[in-house]
Amino acid sequence: MTNYLPPTRELRVRFDTAQALTRLFYREQAVVLSCGGFTPHAPLLEHRSELARTAWESALAAEALRERVFELRYPTRFLAEQAEELAADSPDDLRRLINELRDDYAAYLEAADELADGPSIRIAEAALRDKERQQDALAAVELTDDDPARDPRYFASSFYWPDVLDPTYPYGEGVALQLRSAVSHLNEVWAVDTAGRILHDLSPELGWEFTRDAARWLYDESRHMLMGAERLARWGFEPGQIPLGGYIYEACAGQHALYRLGMLGYFETKNIGRKRERAQAFHDMGDATSEIDMEFDWADETLHAEYGRRWLRRLLEARGEDPESWPAVLERCEQLVRERVAQATPQDLERIRTCADALVAAAGYPSRPANV
Ligand SMILES: [Fe+2]
Ligand SMILES: [Fe+2]
Repeated sequence: MTNYLPPTRELRVRFDTAQALTRLFYREQAVVLSCGGFTPHAPLLEHRSELARTAWESALAAEALRERVFELRYPTRFLAEQAEELAADSPDDLRRLINELRDDYAAYLEAADELADGPSIRIAEAALRDKERQQDALAAVELTDDDPARDPRYFASSFYWPDVLDPTYPYGEGVALQLRSAVSHLNEVWAVDTAGRILHDLSPELGWEFTRDAARWLYDESRHMLMGAERLARWGFEPGQIPLGGYIYEACAGQHALYRLGMLGYFETKNIGRKRERAQAFHDMGDATSEIDMEFDWADETLHAEYGRRWLRRLLEARGEDPESWPAVLERCEQLVRERVAQATPQDLERIRTCADALVAAAGYPSRPANV
């Protein structure tokens, strides 16, 4: 009988590793979809943004896990089917899913061998850090049945600036432009809610790559929303002075998610051409925060315009329609928005005009510095 040298390290075999990572992938994917579905139901903007960030972080982890599984299964790019339903149906359920993932990443790292499986270790370490952060960030998240939920601290008005209803109301210069821009950023809450909805509703149909893009989309829109909220807060305004609403989101009530995708892909990037010019105007005013926010926003929107084009075509294709028929979808989107605007009453216009005028007037007080 021949004698051989014995094994020297405790190692998990390659296909078991791929299987463990596959299970982690599906649970991260469930976190992403759950966060998307919950987003429009979280009244507090900071809870919406924590859900958005968690969706994005989990999508990054899932993407890395998926690629790693493909490496381990080389030459096949193969991901085993998932047998169980994993989506969370409440915030408690989501927190439980995140706790389990944290424990499983910790256990994975405990057992993993650096020499054999270093790339997976790197992924699991980053994901473990994210899970620990998410546990704290999501601890207080609560939802309502309203869709979209309203943040009760802000001045509720579906139409968040008078010019939406009255084209003669000036977009404004100077302080008025600074405020209009910050209020627009804050009111990208409609884009946050829309991105959450399409992420949740269209992912089963469009597959992982859409999920990944939509999670980034959701996170970006939540950052744009917070940019506005934070500039306004630092200028010293109270939320109750600031209009917040989502007429574009509301315009899609009862519509297929196709139209929500159309709204997000095109309406939200519509002003892309003005952003350079606005950034320059803020530069000239010495308002570096508004300027830099605008520039980063512009970079994100360029990406989003591409997401919109790609996924609208793919969705039409998946539904057996001509992918080049997307202009008809956008026309319908514009019509839906016109119909929502047509529902506004003279009182709605009066309310938002009073609110906006008061905001601009308040900014004129010497006690409020123009830039902090
Ligand atoms: Fe945006
Ligand atoms: Fe966008």
